[in-house]
Amino acid sequence: QRERTLAMIKPDGLSGNYTEKIKEVILESGFDIVKEAVVHLDAERASLFYSEHSGRSFFDSLVMYMTSGPVLAMVLERPDAVLHWRVLIGPTDARKAKISHPNSIRAMCGLDSEKNCVHGSDSPQSAAREISFFFGDVRSDTVEHDE
Ligand code: CMP
Repeated sequence: QRERTLAMIKPDGLSGNYTEKIKEVILESGFDIVKEAVVHLDAERASLFYSEHSGRSFFDSLVMYMTSGPVLAMVLERPDAVLHWRVLIGPTDARKAKISHPNSIRAMCGLDSEKNCVHGSDSPQSAAREISFFFGDVRSDTVEHDE
């Protein structure tokens, strides 16, 4: 069954001009790009997006990184989209990705465990939250007319 996930090209991915290459890989892998938006997160929004990591030692640095420039948020759709996108991007630490998953997106454009170039929702529940974070309540998709 078709499923949606939230993909994000992080500031280093956008500034490094990886967007077109990443979109090629997305489309070749059978995803449709259903929605996309370039967004410059401020510290408050970035902290909210990553609130589950708020107690971690890397949190402040992560917020700095994610606010350092615009990101490209995309809703991707295909069967088992959440799992497939996570496989395609590879491990969180791009240095490890370059060794263990050389064909992954993070191996292509990431730098280390923080500057890893792309994000993917880790579960269908996270996908629903993250899609509505960037694109609003999904139920609004079905509303076509005001009475
Ligand atoms: P992402 O998959 O978007 O989810 C959380 C992000 O936190 C992760 O990618 C990295 O950008 C960052 N992150 C995760 N682990 C570490 C770490 N050990 N050190 C620094 N940043 C990290």
